[in-house]
Formats: sequence, C-alpha cells, structure tokens
Amino acid sequence: VADTGTSGLLAGKRVVITAGPTREPIDPVRYISNHSSGRMGYALAEAARDAGARVVLVSGPVSLPAPAGVDVRPVVTADDMLAQASAAVDEGCDLFVATAAVADYRPETCAGDKIKKSSEQMALPLVRNPDTLATIAGRDDAPFTVGFAAETSDVARYAVDKMQRKKLRMIVANDVSVPGLGFNSENNAVTVFWPEGQTAIGPDSKQRIAERLVALISEQLNADPA
Ligand code: CTP
Ligand code: CA
Repeated sequence: VADTGTSGLLAGKRVVITAGPTREPIDPVRYISNHSSGRMGYALAEAARDAGARVVLVSGPVSLPAPAGVDVRPVVTADDMLAQASAAVDEGCDLFVATAAVADYRPETCAGDKIKKSSEQMALPLVRNPDTLATIAGRDDAPFTVGFAAETSDVARYAVDKMQRKKLRMIVANDVSVPGLGFNSENNAVTVFWPEGQTAIGPDSKQRIAERLVALISEQLNADPA
C-alpha cells in the first residue's frame, strides 16, 4: 500500500459507499441509465480501505474490477440500491458516502415483452425513485453521511442546499459541465462543503482526489461529538 498520508485515518471504521449508475428497466431489453463510470466511488472505496476501514461498496453496473479487500454488493435499480445500502448500514456503519448516479425516475411499469414500435411518438410514464442518501441520512441511527452533487450551474448554491435538505454532514460538489472532468472521465475537480467550511480539491486524478477526501472526511468524522 502506497503511503499517501491517510494510513490509519479510518482504522476500524465501517464504511458504506454507493457507486456507479443505476439501470431502470423499460422492457426485457431496454433501460434508462446515465454515463456514470463508477470511478470516483471505486477510488474512494480503495482510499478508505487503505486508510484502514472495512468497506462495503454497493455498486451499480460498471466495467471496473472489484477492488481487493472491498466487499462489493452489486445492484441494478435504484430500489435495489436502497435495499442493499440499508442492509449494509444495518450491519453497522460509521461513515456512509453516496457517490452513485442514481436514476431519479423509473418507468412506471416494466413491459413483460419487448415493446414494438407503432406510432410516430410515444410517451413513457415515469415515477420517482427512492433517495438512498436522504433515507440513510434521515435514520435515527444515521452514520456520518456524505453526499455528492453533480451540477451544471450554480454549483455551490445547489450543493449547499442539498446538504441542508438531506441532513448531510458534508457534500462534495462537482461541476459536470466542465469538459474532461467529472462524469465518466479520469480526472475530477471538486469543492467540498460542510457546515463550518469549504475547500476545493483538484483538478487531479480521481485516485488522488479520493485520498484527499478521505483525509478531509476523517478529520470531520474524528472530531465529531455525535
Ligand atoms: N442520491 C441517492 N438516491 C437518489 C438520488 C440521489 O442516493 N435517488 C444521492 C447521490 O448519490 C448523491 C446525492 O444524492 O450523493 C445527490 O445526487 P444528485 O443527483 O446531485 O441530487 P438529487 O437530490 O437527485 O437532485 P437533482 O438530480 O434534482 O439535482
Ligand atoms: Ca438526481
């Protein structure tokens, strides 16, 4: 393990991380999803592991190898993600980090057979998905909870609003409108907000950003009176 200066910072802590996209089925061969690669969540899982944590990674479908020494729990839909993340938190969790790009809506029904094309236009009724992050943060036994916010404008305002609305301890905001950074790319640049401060990290590799995030999160977590 490379010495990144984070060694031991999360010693003995139980960490649950969500990562990747979700897929919401339309029919047996089609789904709604997004371009999330899962890289930020996987890098964070590895950085938390290297800092001494026991890590559960609840992961949507990605094309990344399972990190060694990390308990990966694969999921497909937003409903699965909530169920698996809740089960992992039930097992004991000090820190919950939601990096997943969860589909906000799913088709109201999944057709049993492949939908055939007919008219020139079609509409697909969608219903809201459950919010894993807000659900975990709202538990009576909520762990220290960190969210991510992908925004294309007014990044700070929307991110801080999300932190307050979802009752988070920290939020990691990234501007996904910057080409070559963030969504589905190797590098990232983020601004982290918590009630008493904020700091910018990057542009840098997602691995390096993950190490800086682990250092910053453990500082707040270990200072936490709760
Ligand atoms: N999140 C989640 N479950 C959802 C939606 C979002 O756990 N159903 C989490 C994401 O993993 C992320 C945070 O909530 O940590 C913010 O996600 P984002 O999509 O930026 O915010 P939303 O609350 O969905 O709001 P909007 O998409 O309208 O900006
Ligand atoms: Ca969303």
